[in-house]
Amino acid sequence: MTVDEVARRSWWAVAFESALDGGPLHARVLGEDLVIARVGGELLAAPDRCPHRGASLSGGDVVDAPDATACLVCPYHAVHFASDGSAVHLPARPGARLPDRLSLRALPVRARHGIVWASLDRDPVGTIPDWSEFDVDGRARFQLGPHPWAVQASRITENFNDLAHFATVHAATFASADDTVVPPIDLRSVDGRIEHGVRMHQLDRVTLDSPEVSAEVGYRYTHVMPFASELVITYAPDRVEWIQFAVTPTSTLDPTSTDPPASMVFQQNARDFDLDGDVGAWSDFQAEVNEEDRRVLETVRPVRIGVDGSGVDEVALGFDTFATAYRRRWRSMLGEQPGR
Ligand code: FES
Ligand SMILES: [Fe+2]
Repeated sequence: MTVDEVARRSWWAVAFESALDGGPLHARVLGEDLVIARVGGELLAAPDRCPHRGASLSGGDVVDAPDATACLVCPYHAVHFASDGSAVHLPARPGARLPDRLSLRALPVRARHGIVWASLDRDPVGTIPDWSEFDVDGRARFQLGPHPWAVQASRITENFNDLAHFATVHAATFASADDTVVPPIDLRSVDGRIEHGVRMHQLDRVTLDSPEVSAEVGYRYTHVMPFASELVITYAPDRVEWIQFAVTPTSTLDPTSTDPPASMVFQQNARDFDLDGDVGAWSDFQAEVNEEDRRVLETVRPVRIGVDGSGVDEVALGFDTFATAYRRRWRSMLGEQPGR
């Protein structure tokens, strides 16, 4: 199977649930434009193209049809689509029977813990991550993005799960340039998940104004294939932060494509401490950390590689525990022999 064939069947973060309150949204997955909308109480995801004359449906509105059914309305000639995608009303010809071909091809779509996930395939494979820690009562939280990065999704995912760049890339935010050592990482790879973790020194710091207190911090990552990772940072038993990070490839993943790689990054954080703290300052701090990552990743060459690491001459080092397991997992998803 090609990487895009595998990816089309995955679940992708396409919107924050709260963003749909403002009406339909546009999303792009693997080069396909989608409309995402909440129509009545239901979610609708479909190609962002009206079957009549091709207008972009994400520029439309959600309104009630004459029979009070909630509908997504095309902004061009106002065909009304019900939440299952069926074309149900045309104001220019009320009561006319509308051809079946006018209906939208509705895609699988689900809301889970603040994020809306969709698949390009009617029969998705794989799982939506269980990010229930985000909406546990009594926590502080924020969402960040979605932000476009001109970086291949697998590179962003490997970077999120990489501990060895902290002392260099993040020395101005949460890391200390002196704490360079990465202890051996324990890792388990089962059923489309890769769990890994370590305890290492960094700063107990969540805003640029926090005191720079060095601490031994626990990191536990749970990565769900292909591009969704959760990191639990334990600064102390009563100071825990959850970072949930989903990358959606907006352009093809084909390593031979000449299109620039493009991804959309969705992130949400929760914490069980500083509940009255300044969430804006915490979110700004996280945005600055992400900018440190984005800046370095946008310099990485080649800009496209096989998601399994094929077609590129790179040197794996001892701390590349996650990337090695991740590339192996991709090889088996692409139907090749692990350890090739
Ligand atoms: S293009 Fe959508 S109704 Fe004509
Ligand atoms: Fe980083």
